[in-house]
This record gives sequence, structure tokens and C-alpha cells, in this order.
Amino acid sequence: MERPKVLLACNADTNIVGMVAKSCDYEVCDENDRQAVLDGLVDADGLMLSGRQRIDSELLERAPRLKIVSNAAVGYNNFDVEEMKKRGILATHTPDVLNDTVADLIMGLMLTVGRRICELDGYMRSGGWTAPVKEELFGIDLSHKKLGIIGMGRIGEAVAKRAYAGFDMDVSYSNRHKKEGADKRYKALFLPLDRLLKSSDYIVVMTPLSESTRHMIGLAQFATMKRDAIFINASRGPVVDEAALIEALKTGKIKAAGLDVFESEPISPDNELLKMKNVVLTPHIGSATKQTRDAMARLAAENLIDGALGKRPANIIPEMQ
Ligand code: DGY
Repeated sequence: MERPKVLLACNADTNIVGMVAKSCDYEVCDENDRQAVLDGLVDADGLMLSGRQRIDSELLERAPRLKIVSNAAVGYNNFDVEEMKKRGILATHTPDVLNDTVADLIMGLMLTVGRRICELDGYMRSGGWTAPVKEELFGIDLSHKKLGIIGMGRIGEAVAKRAYAGFDMDVSYSNRHKKEGADKRYKALFLPLDRLLKSSDYIVVMTPLSESTRHMIGLAQFATMKRDAIFINASRGPVVDEAALIEALKTGKIKAAGLDVFESEPISPDNELLKMKNVVLTPHIGSATKQTRDAMARLAAENLIDGALGKRPANIIPEMQ
């Protein structure tokens, strides 16, 4: 049987390349270079990438042999799912292996923003600590506060677990479906979005990006939140109307934000968020630990190899199940 050929458009290390090379011929290219991806797809049976390149009709048109696109990410908003379905091309992603790592970052953002750790670090380094810290620099507790999670998927549940078991937080969530398990395990309350926004001290957005969630948090939603609410987004930037978020932070409609994702990535150097004291920013690093990124790459490579060999991969996206 002819060996399939795959295109590795992600930072695959030697272990991953070795795994792939056992059953496939391969080519490596830079995911950010659209032309290189297009050129490499001419005779490829499979493509592995980390989710930064849009898989659309232009690209699929150039890939007559393509059987599978494997994202080394849990999110897959870069896929035109309908177009892929039409052409019979499988789409896979890497669920589960990153749940704890992303949930840890979210807790870190909540603590850092609530207790103003970055701001106070800057205060010390600039020699500001010459007398006891004044009340204007005090933070907001996490323990015993109300946490509202928008999007109670696997990562949302991992956040609920930490918040409930570790911080005695009062958890509520809004989601397409009620999650009986989460209700029981974390005493989580299923609420309509506006009630969750109105009642939460900390709001975490963890919903995937789709046409129905794009800008689901905008001016009206920020206006509904408590004035001392802390807002965290570690899902996808475009779920939030960033201009509305900036406005809400500037006008005191909400207290502060912790953001791992942005409408445009990498963030533009003149983005106002970079200058705001009541914002903590991280550069889309939710899953970025060595252990977790290695596990994601391994899983994505397994999906890729299976798909290229004509087998059914383990992690086909839900819309294709
Ligand atoms: C994912 O897997 O979708 C994450 O955002 C990548 O860090």
C-alpha cells in the first residue's frame, strides 16, 4: 500500500515527527505562511496544525487528496465545518488533555486580577512601598464569592471543581444544556445568562467560538454586570466585543478583567488594553505547559495518522460524529 503523505504545519518536535514517519511520508511547513500551507497541500492526505490557519474552500480546493485535518487544539473555529463535510474531509481536535492546564490558568487569572498581583508587583518594583499599603490598593476576595461560568464544557467543569472545592465559591453557569452532573458535584446553579451576569462577582467565559457565540458578550451584557465584577476570558477573543469590554473597563461598568485571548492575535501594539491597570493579559497560553502541549501534539498526531491511513480517528469533532 502506498504510504500517505501528510503536512505538518505546526511546531512538531522530533518525537512527533518520528511517530508520523513510521507510517507516513511528511513535509514540514510554517503554519503562519498561508502560501506554504497551500503549496504543501497539493499532494497531501493529511494536515496537522495548531488552529491558526483557516480551513476554508480556497484551501480545500487546493487539496484534492486531503482526508483529514487535525488541529492540535481543542478549539476548532478555524474549520469551515460545512465545507469540510461537503468534501468528506474529517476534522479532529484534542479534547480533555488540556482541561486541567487551562482551568489552572483561569484560576491564576482570577487570583491575579482579584488580588491585583501584577499591579502590586509593579508598585513594589517602582519603589512605591514606603509605608503600609493603603486601602485603595486592596484587592477583592475569591473565596466565598459568586462565580458565573459561561460555557460549562469540560474546561468549565474543571474551573467549577477548583472554585467549589478549593475556594468555597458559589458556582452558577449558563450553557446550552443543563449539566446534572455539575449541579450535583459542585452545587452549580443553571441560570439564564442575564441572571448569571447580574449576580456574579467573577465571570468566566469558556464557551467555544461559533457564529452563535460571536460577540455574545457586548455593551448590554457588561451593563448588566455588577460594577465590581471581575471578567475573565480564556476561550476565544471574538466571543467578546473587545471595544465594549474596553469601554466597560474605562467607564467603571465592571471592575477589572483577566484576558488570555483577544479579537486579533497577536494583539496590536496600540490596543488600549495594554495600557490599562485594571487588566491582566496573557498571550493565549491557556494550554501552554510543556507537558500539556506535548500531550496535545501526540493526540493530534495519532488523529492525523489514523485519518491519513483511512482509519477512524478517536477525536472527530462533535459536528461530524
Ligand atoms: C485550544 O486548544 O483551543 C487552546 O486555545 C490552545 O491553547
